[in-house]
Amino acid sequence: MLRVRSSESTAESVSLPYNVKQWQKGYESLSEEFDYWIEEIEGTIPPDLQGTLFRNGPGRLEVNGARFHHPFDGDGMVCAIAFSKGRAHFRNRFVRTSGFVEEQRENRILYRGVFGTQKPGGLLANAFDFRLKNIANTNVLYWGGKLLALWEAAVPHRLDPGTLETLGLEYFEGALDAGSAFAAHPWIDPSSAQDGGAPCLVNFSIKPGLSTTITLYELNSQGAIVRQSAHRTPGFAFIHDFAITPNYGIFFQNPVVFNPLPYALGLKGAGECIRFQPDQSTRIIVVPRQIGNPAQDYQAAQFLEAQSGFVFHHANAFEQDGLLYVDSVCYENLPALKAGADYRETDFSTLAPGQLWRFQLDLKTSRVERQRLESRCCEFPFVHPDRVGRSYRYLFMGAAHEATGNAPLQAILKADLVSGDRQLWSAAPWGYVSEPVFVPRSASADRRGLPTADLEGDEDEGWLLTLVFDGTRQRSDVVILDARNIQQGPIARLHLKHHIPYGLHGSFTPEVFN
Ligand code: CO
Repeated sequence: MLRVRSSESTAESVSLPYNVKQWQKGYESLSEEFDYWIEEIEGTIPPDLQGTLFRNGPGRLEVNGARFHHPFDGDGMVCAIAFSKGRAHFRNRFVRTSGFVEEQRENRILYRGVFGTQKPGGLLANAFDFRLKNIANTNVLYWGGKLLALWEAAVPHRLDPGTLETLGLEYFEGALDAGSAFAAHPWIDPSSAQDGGAPCLVNFSIKPGLSTTITLYELNSQGAIVRQSAHRTPGFAFIHDFAITPNYGIFFQNPVVFNPLPYALGLKGAGECIRFQPDQSTRIIVVPRQIGNPAQDYQAAQFLEAQSGFVFHHANAFEQDGLLYVDSVCYENLPALKAGADYRETDFSTLAPGQLWRFQLDLKTSRVERQRLESRCCEFPFVHPDRVGRSYRYLFMGAAHEATGNAPLQAILKADLVSGDRQLWSAAPWGYVSEPVFVPRSASADRRGLPTADLEGDEDEGWLLTLVFDGTRQRSDVVILDARNIQQGPIARLHLKHHIPYGLHGSFTPEVFN
């Protein structure tokens, strides 16, 4: 059994389920691009697991030795792991954003980052430089025949799903323009009433200012934007994710203020100028999705108030008995990013853990009640794709090894929200997990296109795919878990030839791109 070597640990860290030095190695850049069949495999890849897992995340975290100030400023690198007939193929490519190409060519940092990266040259070089590098590093998904790398402050980059080659910026036939944004957290509504029961993709954009404009976009299965509506909310909004139901898009406007002055003067990144306001409430904005439908008049957004908290990610939402429910990973507070601090020196014990909460919204009375569903530190929630926006039973998340406190994500947690049962698989002390992508068995090629059976009882029938950084070997594994029984451990562990820096989000498509 692997153990943390106490000789490398301070007296304080002996009790930690991880080794800080090993954890830090997951923030090294990966400079090479690979294309190979994975040969080093423990266990067996299920032969009926067919399709491609796409992952995105910051792959380059420095330029010529000058580190970016925060991993969220890193350049997007997309990985594709294609499963077919019991084999798996790996490929990774950096998104050739114009900023990435320029910085590679000049071999130095040319852009400020939202999360505090500054150009060399001090204030004179940075003050009043508001240019953004579209870093395409947050999510990747295959929709309407297009593979899109997403970053919330700008338009998507389109990639070739077979080669991961960057094809250019995606404007959806003029629906977006050069100044537009397109969030990194689209949902696929599995059955959209406005599209005759076909799936549609729902996403949004945020245009911040003294008041904030939220635009909701809906894309048909050919990848065209077919509906959009804009809504305004007072004040500055930092909204990374949202939730949907068949009738609503739901946004949490976290209680923050933004002071642009240090950013303008070149002292800080824009993200470092955001301050959490624990004494103010969270505003919940409920936007009707029944748009572009002549039978329905335009409906205004509704605003509700909830107790203070900070949400990056929502797990799911659903409508039931006239009420709206939203399940979210919520933090008691958001510590300010410190301008001089090194993110690799993060003291987890000083930070509030993300915990799963259920918010119950009554649109008639504007009343919000909330209840904590899970106190273990967790992030990156994922549900069965057919349950998006619907009542559901199982939630899969990255989680801390220990039941209390804050720590890097080393475990996968399966929460049964009906029975209250929990299952946990932990990769501690050497392993650091990423978002667990749930792949229903019904997504495999032979059953694709067939109507989904009544999910009652088989909502967890499928696999969880997650990348695990192995701190002892400084390489990453693709881990496959049986979603019905995750505590038995991986059914297959695919050893890559290299590491993959800690990533953000990804998705699975039943199409095989190898
Ligand atoms: Co996210």
